[in-house]
Amino acid sequence: MPGEPAWWQRGAIYQIYPRSFADADGDGVGDLAGIAARLDHIAELGAEAIWLSPFYRSPMADFGYDVADYRDVDPAFGTLEDFDRLVDAAHGRGIRVVVDWVPNHSSDRHEWFVESRASRDSPRRDWYVWRDGTPDGGPPNDWMSEFEAVGRAWTFDEATGQWYLHSFMAEQPDLNWDNPEVEAAMHDVLRFWLDRGVDGFRIDALQRLAHDPLLRSNAGAARRHDQDWETTHDRLRGIRRVVDEYEDRMIVGEVALLDLHRVISYLNSGDQLHLAHNFVFAELAWDAEAFRVSVEDFEALAVATAWPAWFLENHDLPRVATRFDEPSGLGAPRARAALLVLYALRGTPFVYQGQELGLPDAEIPPERVVDVDGRDPERAPLPWRPPSQAGPGAGFTTGEPWLPVVAGAEELNAETQAADRCSTLSLTRRLAALRRQTPALQTGSQRSVDAHPEVFAWLREDEGARLLAAVNFAAETVPVGLPAELGGPPRVLVSTDPARREGEVRLDALELAPGEGVLVAL
Ligand code: GLC
Repeated sequence: MPGEPAWWQRGAIYQIYPRSFADADGDGVGDLAGIAARLDHIAELGAEAIWLSPFYRSPMADFGYDVADYRDVDPAFGTLEDFDRLVDAAHGRGIRVVVDWVPNHSSDRHEWFVESRASRDSPRRDWYVWRDGTPDGGPPNDWMSEFEAVGRAWTFDEATGQWYLHSFMAEQPDLNWDNPEVEAAMHDVLRFWLDRGVDGFRIDALQRLAHDPLLRSNAGAARRHDQDWETTHDRLRGIRRVVDEYEDRMIVGEVALLDLHRVISYLNSGDQLHLAHNFVFAELAWDAEAFRVSVEDFEALAVATAWPAWFLENHDLPRVATRFDEPSGLGAPRARAALLVLYALRGTPFVYQGQELGLPDAEIPPERVVDVDGRDPERAPLPWRPPSQAGPGAGFTTGEPWLPVVAGAEELNAETQAADRCSTLSLTRRLAALRRQTPALQTGSQRSVDAHPEVFAWLREDEGARLLAAVNFAAETVPVGLPAELGGPPRVLVSTDPARREGEVRLDALELAPGEGVLVAL
């Protein structure tokens, strides 16, 4: 990358799920004022930006991803004034603000849909995807909702005798992007928030923005007809043009496709996304070879044309400590190593709230389940303080938290971890600081090196500065398997294992503990 890195390339982007971050008014649901009051935590993490999951007016069928008014804050989260205050406070600390934008669907309570469903002649009828059923009374085609529990992606509307499309819940009707009025209205939503000072958008379910206009079934087709249609790219270019009316803004797309070529096609042309969330990587098993191949694939396909982004957690996926670590109470070494991977790879790390604490998923008793798709465990409120001191809300709320906090909150809370040099929080802060001080980590070149088969090792290099990162994916201690002459004298800058003494090492004698990751200056 020639020149200085952009803000969205330098450091981590920290995802906030507002319901579960910090509750300022004691109603058990997080809010914008709560975020503003906790900006110190984000500043101390050295995050470049926060990405806020939706805080717009919503009946909360999908906890905010069903938007009833794109231009207002839901009262549960505060007001537009709270939002402005939050943006000012973040900017005052040099933290950029990225907001979620949900273009594929609105809430069924959005006035656009209320009007659309009112009659077949409604001027807004064509703002959503309405079709007649088959002659035998079935839905127009075989498309299924993204959520298994929802079943088919069509709901029959008794009053007007037609079906409407919903790629997610029935409460989330798909907007009809084939209609230019819809596109123009959604572009105006972008401008509304850009004018309020946001620095970028995370585009929700981007791959859904265009489907086969003939609505042909998926069965028997070589390629799915309900998403990732070629016209998605034109729509994305239109979005980018709006964002480029403003200076230094960024769009990151949720491109939930498991074919890396398709993901990169949204990224490599200079006039589409700046960053894409790579689900191929996010859904890997804990396997050194799989991680190496996934990273190399991205580099091979896109090193010259696209900047990578790496994430392993968000509000839709089980947490790393739960996916990769043994539930043994011995800490979460792999969750710590995963943080090192994110900060040491070439590309932008995305860190989901609580990941910096190494949180596992929370246990949700059946009577507390609220999400349609099993995602409550990773959405449990953030523990800020020990429950023994702060009460059962763990400093998240003085009220009754909307979801139970994680069982280990007494040790895993942010306050306790901040006071412990060996904690996952302290590790994350060190990784972020090291990345900030080290151009080779930000923009240096990258190549993987041959090591022990269960070790993923790679080099980052920039103008003579060389760093080695190595992570042990095995369940036992293994030799890193690197030649002594790789460079040196090697010095361990960071280890994810609190037991390791940092400082000079011999590479040919270096062994890594189970789940240990190291960053070594060469
Ligand atoms: C995205 C969001 C997810 C939401 C869905 C529908 O995948 O990340 O939380 O349920 O889109 O908006």
